[in-house]
Formats: sequence, C-alpha cells, structure tokens
Amino acid sequence: MTDNYAVFGNPIAHSKSPDIHRLFSEQTQQTMSYTKQLVELDEFEKTVTEFASQGGCGLNITVPFKLEAFDFADELTSRAQNAGAVNTLLFKDNKVIGDNTDGFGLVYDITENLGWSFSGKKVLILGAGGAVRGILQPILEQHPNSVCVANRTASKAVELAEHFSKFGSITGCGFSEIEDSPFDIIINGTSASISGDLPPLPEKVADNTTHAYDLMYGKEPTVFMKWAASKNCTAIADGLGMLVCQAAESFYLWRGVRPETKPVITYLRTALNS
Ligand code: ATR
Repeated sequence: MTDNYAVFGNPIAHSKSPDIHRLFSEQTQQTMSYTKQLVELDEFEKTVTEFASQGGCGLNITVPFKLEAFDFADELTSRAQNAGAVNTLLFKDNKVIGDNTDGFGLVYDITENLGWSFSGKKVLILGAGGAVRGILQPILEQHPNSVCVANRTASKAVELAEHFSKFGSITGCGFSEIEDSPFDIIINGTSASISGDLPPLPEKVADNTTHAYDLMYGKEPTVFMKWAASKNCTAIADGLGMLVCQAAESFYLWRGVRPETKPVITYLRTALNS
C-alpha cells in the first residue's frame, strides 16, 4: 500500500508542497503519494482524524490551521512548543506528533545553501508575529552574538525576546529603537512586503557587509530586497529556499531520508519566473 501524505490549508490551491514532495520522492526513490487538501474552517480536527484513520502517515499544515494543529497533537517537539505552532504532523504508534520545521528550514537554507553563518553575528529580525516566533529558537541555537527583534508593536517584540532569552542573547524593541549601526544579518519576517510596505529602519542598519533575507518570496524582489540592494548589501535572498528546506525536514521526519534541496529550489525558481 502506498504511504499517503498531504498538506491541509484554506486556501490551498496555490500550494507548491505537492510539487516539492513529488520531486523529493523521485530523487530519493521513495514510494509515496502527497496531495493538497482544502479543509473547511470548522472541520480541521474531523478531517485530520479521517485522514489518519484511512492510513495517512503524515501531514503538512498551513494557514490558518497551525495553531489548531498545535492543540490537536498528542505530543509536541521542543521546537513546536517554542514556536507555538505546528506545520508537520506525524502519525505514529496511534499518537499524533506535532513538529515545526519552519525555523530549521530557514537556518538550513541560510547556512547550508547560501553559506552564511550566524555564529558570532549581530542579527536583526523584523516582525514579531507567528512567522518570527517560529524561527527564533533555531536561530539562537546557531550562537549569534546578539539578536534584536524589532516590531511595529514594540511590546510584542519585547514579549518574544523574554520568552526566547533562555536560548541566547536576544532583545526586543520598536523600529525607532533599533541601534543605528550595521547588522551582519537582517531577516524580514513582517508581512509588510505583501502590501509593498517597508518597515521604517534607521539609516545605517545595513551596509555592504550585511546579508539580507526576506521570509517572503515572489516572482519579483520584495520591497525589503530592493531596499537591501539600495544599501549594497553583500547578499540578498528571498524565502523560496526556506519553503523547500522546511519541506525537506518534514520529509526527513516522515521518511528518514534527507532529500537534496538545491535542485528543487532551482526548479521552483525557474517555474516562478516562466
Ligand atoms: P505571520 O504569521 O506572517 O507572522 P502575523 O502573526 O499576523 O503574520 O504577523 C505579522 C507581522 O508583520 C507582525 O509583526 C506585524 O506587526 P504588528 O505586530 O505591529 O502588527 C507585521 N506587519 C504587518 N504589516 C506591517 C507593516 N505595514 N509595517 C510593519 N510591520 C507590519
């Protein structure tokens, strides 16, 4: 019998996860199926239970169900607990295990694919919503010198910094309180890019030594990436690699095999630009 996996979300039509997992399974010669499923807003638990009872092996969970998946899981990994959200479910020994591979995916893309290092670096993270919460533990575990989380609503950044201080040196503030000198790495985790907005940043936070990463991706560079280019940042990337790398970590949890991410990123980039 084929092992079945799926991604649950609403909306789901544009999900790239089936393509990504098809490429992973071809590459690693794993026999499995992976589909996308639109789940009605009030039917998350019912749909997951049905999927598991029909022999489903695992799920990816996307917007808006990551918190419900967190509540639904019988057991949570430490990174899911700290992220406060679940993007991967694994059905094992009659238990539902919830994990969060988003932060791992970001760190893997940055350190392995792009070759940037967090170790000893001064890091600025913009935003303090769900996306940023999901990446802080894996980033702090890379031993940066310091992490500053800056957010439009400063109190949310301060709260996150308090929660994650057990993992390393982290502070939270509003945009106007960011230190006005160059950071080594700046990560944009605000959803401001969607509306084409750029958070108001002090003049000197980026220069030609800065590496800039936007969690968002698209056909065109985001406003944040254009801003980074105007500051002559040494390297600029979007979140397509993170998307593929978080999927690779889910695949590894389910199948015990690590797929290559670079060819899949290249494939998706070509498809995005065509
Ligand atoms: P996500 O799951 O994408 O993180 P979210 O939890 O709603 O979504 O968080 C959105 C983040 O983007 C927040 O940090 C938000 O700032 P506030 O906490 O002050 O709302 C930030 N954000 C959204 N639009 C923004 C804008 N136009 N300028 C700056 N920050 C913005």
